[in-house]
Amino acid sequence: MRQRACFIPITLLLIPALLLGACSGNEPTGAPATSGESLYAEKSCVSCHTVDGSASVGPTWKGLYLSTVELADGTTVTADDAYLRESILRPSAKTVEGYSPGLMETVIKPDSLSESEVDALVDYIKSLK
Ligand code: HEC
Repeated sequence: MRQRACFIPITLLLIPALLLGACSGNEPTGAPATSGESLYAEKSCVSCHTVDGSASVGPTWKGLYLSTVELADGTTVTADDAYLRESILRPSAKTVEGYSPGLMETVIKPDSLSESEVDALVDYIKSLK
């Protein structure tokens, strides 16, 4: 008898603990969201882009959002959402002046990332002021 009396309160305590554990990992959007920061590493963007302004194989992402980008064809473009999305989904659509054309596409194939992955990466780039 005494054993059972003890067992019930412990079970009751465990339920909210389990619920808390199950909920705390979720993004507010409910989608199985992977953050842009983790995609940066997972999709190997990290091997060619820095997020701290230092030079690499490709342009740094720090301060990229809404900056004016000089393209190899002599035109300029504002790095807005549309430009960033295009640069990720079709890496060879435009080439940044001073960088190797077609290089990103050797690793990131056109349309190889999902819409939600592109959204997350663009959000991450936006956060790198
Ligand atoms: C193999 C090296 C390489 C990898 C891997 C790579 N990139 Fe790039 N990326 C480049 C180079 C080089 C450029 C500049 C030339 C060009 O515009 O194609 C570039 C340009 C860009 C630009 C435009 C930058 C600007 O200053 O206008 C964006 C945005 C971008 N990459 C996003 C990504 C994302 C997101 C990933 C990962 C999913 C990625 N890149 C992976 C090499 C790479």
